[in-house]
Amino acid sequence: MSKTIIVSNRLPVKISKTGEEYTLSPSEGGLATGLGSIYKKGDNKWIGWPGVEITDDGDRQAITGQLADLSLVPIFLEQEEINQYYEGFSNEVLWPIFHYYTSTYAVYRQSNWDYYNAVNHKFKDAVLAIAEPGDVIWIHDYQLLLLAQLIRNEMPDVSIGFFLHIPFPSHEMFRLIPWRKELLQGMLGADLIGFHTFDDVRHFLDASTRILPVSSSANVITTGDRSVVVESFPMGIDEKKYSSLPLEKEVIEQVALIKETFKNTKLILSVDRLDYSKGILQRLQAFELLLQLYPEYCEKVTMHMIVVPSRDTVPQYAHLRDEIDKRVGNINAMYRNMEWTPIHYYYRSFPVETLSALYYAADVCLVSPMRDGMNLVSKEYVASRINNDGVLILSEMAGASKELIDALIVNPNDTREVCNAIITAINMPLSEQKRRMKQMRQLVAKFNITHWVKIFMDRLKEVKQMQRSMQ
Ligand code: UDP
Ligand code: G6P
Repeated sequence: MSKTIIVSNRLPVKISKTGEEYTLSPSEGGLATGLGSIYKKGDNKWIGWPGVEITDDGDRQAITGQLADLSLVPIFLEQEEINQYYEGFSNEVLWPIFHYYTSTYAVYRQSNWDYYNAVNHKFKDAVLAIAEPGDVIWIHDYQLLLLAQLIRNEMPDVSIGFFLHIPFPSHEMFRLIPWRKELLQGMLGADLIGFHTFDDVRHFLDASTRILPVSSSANVITTGDRSVVVESFPMGIDEKKYSSLPLEKEVIEQVALIKETFKNTKLILSVDRLDYSKGILQRLQAFELLLQLYPEYCEKVTMHMIVVPSRDTVPQYAHLRDEIDKRVGNINAMYRNMEWTPIHYYYRSFPVETLSALYYAADVCLVSPMRDGMNLVSKEYVASRINNDGVLILSEMAGASKELIDALIVNPNDTREVCNAIITAINMPLSEQKRRMKQMRQLVAKFNITHWVKIFMDRLKEVKQMQRSMQ
């Protein structure tokens, strides 16, 4: 029987070492949380890195066995690979460039590129070790842009899908990368390339036809004797999970506690991984402006801000963390009093029950990334509003803004606009909240994660059939 092999840099579970013990916990980030609930069917497998350096052969064997029970296949990265492939090339070149951050954030080093290449080969070997003719290989995200072509060279007929979870930038940004040709050629090894939005598709078609000797007609790229289809597939979430969690006892108890704690103020929720692309500092600035310009809102509004630790060994992330600490400290020092603290700030991750309780209890969810491929937090908030109340403020730079058009859409660079949106949100009449939220809930329920997987897989099958019929 054929199987689907999902491949991504990070597995949906991560391993951490406490003393001599290794423990498994869910990974954070949209890719892992989104696909985490659907990969376990049949003989399917997920190949990826468990998130920590493990050097001991005995430990590697034990972990491989433990993960095999979950249909997961670990790729063990050496420290130097983590430094150069993951932190260096993936997160100091691709991440900043693809999110439109250039000179101060992108660092081009030949050795980072060499490691990126080598680790993509390592993933290729792991895929080839378990792939059989008839299998479908689904590669995810910017850490593995070369992998599709590497597999294609060895298995010319196999079905390969590729999905990019982050934005694909305009040609003007993409062409800055010294290894732009190799990256595009690597992606074009797939049969079907998916992005979150139509703009990403457009940018990819544009970059490919300008940089490579390929031609395109509508959304099909012809490279040599192969045709590659490029389309948008906006990713959804496990909507059923988020809409049923608020009915669970544990969540109900946490909601009661949150409501009691914040009974005298409106609660604004902010949830992100630590990342400069998320616009956390700019969001704090908008919140401070609100307290400055409209002191009547002091004590009446509280921000609950969760920043999930991420990539903090990359210098720009470590620096951002310090900046957030400072900014939150300043605002709290300036405006707090005995009864009220403007920002409740947490630098850690939380179990899904706590997130659900916060999504359910918060009056407003403020999602203001400077750039985001999709942003699943915004959809999780919507799915959790089972009473149809609450207001979502959403950046127009997030992929989700193309779908969640009933949110209050803001430009995250416009501090005054974000500040005004907060005021609009906390004063929005219930009837308007419900009208907007209902529309968004319907959309999130319909275009859920199962739907996303199905349309991508069905399309891949069609593309493969089309290619075979043309041979
Ligand atoms: N998340 C999590 N633990 C937390 C806070 C958030 O697992 O303590 C999850 C959140 O539920 C969401 C994901 O992290 O599914 C973030 O995905 P998103 O698409 O918003 O951004 P990304 O991190 O992928 O850039
Ligand atoms: C985003 C990326 C994922 C990545 C996640 C967490 O969602 O699209 O590929 O896994 O962030 O980042 P990390 O570097 O910790 O894997």
